Amino acid sequence: MAVTNAVDLSKLYTRNFELNDETELVFHQSEIGDVGCVVWDAALVLCKYLETRDFDEGNAWHGKTVIDLGSGTGAVGLVAAALGALTVVTDLPEFVPLMDHNVNYNKSVIAAGSCSAQPLVWGDSSQTQNLKEKFFPQGLDFVTIADCVYYEESITSLVETIVELCSDKTTVLCCYEERDIGNKSEMQRKFFEMIGKRFDVSEVPLAAQDPHFRSPDIHIMKFTPKLCVVR
Ligand SMILES: C[S@@+](CC[C@H](N)C(=O)[O-])C[C@H]1O[C@@H](n2cnc3c(N)ncnc32)[C@H](O)[C@@H]1O
Repeated sequence: MAVTNAVDLSKLYTRNFELNDETELVFHQSEIGDVGCVVWDAALVLCKYLETRDFDEGNAWHGKTVIDLGSGTGAVGLVAAALGALTVVTDLPEFVPLMDHNVNYNKSVIAAGSCSAQPLVWGDSSQTQNLKEKFFPQGLDFVTIADCVYYEESITSLVETIVELCSDKTTVLCCYEERDIGNKSEMQRKFFEMIGKRFDVSEVPLAAQDPHFRSPDIHIMKFTPKLCVVR
């Protein structure tokens, strides 16, 4: 994906986000920059899903290791950290300052866990291995992905990075919004075809999602590595 604008940290505006216990996180978004400068609806749906019964109302995140891919503002990783997870939010290098800013701004709220902003370009195997060694020597519990499955030039590399990050104990939570403009739906089809070769895939029913933050055109998919595939 070609990023034309670095993120301008002098032109920020905020989006407040409440956890179920009314703890408030503040996500700074940038007026100038690429798509990662704002919080997307799929990220909000995934953030609120982390506090549902599927995760013991959010209590299941304590001590869990999480990497979020294509984090943009870092919203999903920050919410996981606020719930006690040890998270790394990642994106193209241009987005690290914005993610860093949000990590620092929310420092007191995410103190139950931790969050580090790191560059990770999908398909960059040495970057992926370095992050695994530095932050997740015991393996990853979760990979989270919100609104990232549309880039024709990087669909294959996104799948490669997901595969490389996962061990048998990892669950991938991938939230995406259906889009039928251009070739977006074809990209989504290709992505799930590739993922289906390596992972068992299931969809989280709407009824299991947050009752307010859900939508029929936003899907949360769970991937777990197929046990008998040789990687
Ligand atoms: C639509 S935004 C979603 C941002 C955030 N996850 C959210 O939902 O609010 C897609 C993100 O993917 C990132 N991205 C695109 N191509 C990438 C690549 N090849 N490697 C890493 N990140 C990439 C973009 O920079 C952007 O932040």
